[in-house]
Amino acid sequence: MITSAEHAARRAVLSEAVDGPILLMGNGEQARNLPLTPLPFRQDSTFLYYTGCQMPGAAALLIDGQATLFAEPPADDDALWHGVVETLAEAAERLGFAQARPLSELEDVASGLSGLQTLSVPDPTQTRIASRLSGLDLEYPDRAGSVELVDAVISQRKRRSAAELGEMRAAVEVADAAHRAAMAITRPGAHEREIRAIFDGTVMAHGMAHPYGSIVTVQGEVLHNFRYVNELEEGQLLLLDGGAETPSGYASDITRTWPVSGRFTGRQRAAYAAVLAAQEAAIDLVRPGVRYRDVHHAACLVLARFLVEEELLRCSPEDAVAAGAHAVFFPHGVGHLIGLDVHDLENFGDRACYDPRYSRSEDFGTAWLRIDLDLEPGMVVTVEPGFYVVPAILHDPAIRERFAGLVDFEEALSWTGFGGIRIEDDVAVTAGAPEVLSASIPKEVADLEALVGTRESPFG
Ligand code: GLY
Ligand code: MN
Repeated sequence: MITSAEHAARRAVLSEAVDGPILLMGNGEQARNLPLTPLPFRQDSTFLYYTGCQMPGAAALLIDGQATLFAEPPADDDALWHGVVETLAEAAERLGFAQARPLSELEDVASGLSGLQTLSVPDPTQTRIASRLSGLDLEYPDRAGSVELVDAVISQRKRRSAAELGEMRAAVEVADAAHRAAMAITRPGAHEREIRAIFDGTVMAHGMAHPYGSIVTVQGEVLHNFRYVNELEEGQLLLLDGGAETPSGYASDITRTWPVSGRFTGRQRAAYAAVLAAQEAAIDLVRPGVRYRDVHHAACLVLARFLVEEELLRCSPEDAVAAGAHAVFFPHGVGHLIGLDVHDLENFGDRACYDPRYSRSEDFGTAWLRIDLDLEPGMVVTVEPGFYVVPAILHDPAIRERFAGLVDFEEALSWTGFGGIRIEDDVAVTAGAPEVLSASIPKEVADLEALVGTRESPFG
């Protein structure tokens, strides 16, 4: 749990770092079809970070270090339809604000302030209000807000406190139970949607939400596959990329890949061992001062050695990585920051995710490297290399031409139908060795083979 004192301390740091008044907007509720049936509510992460306030439509105004919460007071009929709702005074007390005022007063108070600094949020209505009150041109995510405020927020949110790490461990623990449940009911004849249901249901049963749509697929080569249309067949690999989100908003993001039948085939076993070795080499570099691109590079090199052994690459591993040819089989970056958002701070773009000394590569594959920062204690990153056989890439004329002589495309096409393997853990940078928060979730071949298919499906 993050205490109200920690939220207040974060606001104090922010007020010190930024000149003038600050307006932080929360997200509002969005109608699913009728206002009566809203979409599941998710608070804006920066607003959560500074307030811990989950009330839809709320805002916080920081003036000379004094924080006021603005929120919708309980309506007369709330007790009937929604149960008793706390008063604004009770909300202020619980959240550690000196005062709370009705949302209807925000306009009057804020419109008289000069130099108001603010941010856009995912909710366009709230962003429009922030824009009107501040006079800033805002649009989420591209026009994020005043630069001074954006930079101050990034600098605070980049590293996790001890309490935040505690939240992330809780999110991992629930993901652990959910991954194990999914592994246990996997068998030929089951359906992707059934495995998804057990994973998502386990997360919900522990009182947590989903930080993103769980990826549960035998077509792991489709990186963000949310289709759930396949029945599982003997010989296939199932890839599950899923996490949990604590009530305070912290995420886990873990991928495991296992054989539907409970036994890896020879080819699967070799590829799995290579991805695991690539991940271990990369994780070992998650230490202070290491540039994240070097973490990515370490994974690429280990994977390239396997690709050379399998004659998928016809050059040295070093030459393949230098040319970017490994990306034909590992076309994404090795990971991202994780915290209140699954891809934490990615809404602030490369301003948050790339050190100003480093620029984003335009090369195929490496262009998808989501962060390139020097690692610092307190950061939490994912490390998620993969190996994928993607027909769309293997048949792409531009890619075939570019990597002709380096990639054996005919050999690669003989792997068609293999799918994909990804292994992903959440790793905290400490002063010393990396701490793999998700280390307890099975990923060794023997542990996976022992667990798959050990339980009856509750869905019949
Ligand atoms: N969990 C999905 C991703 O990291 O992109
Ligand atoms: Mn991830």
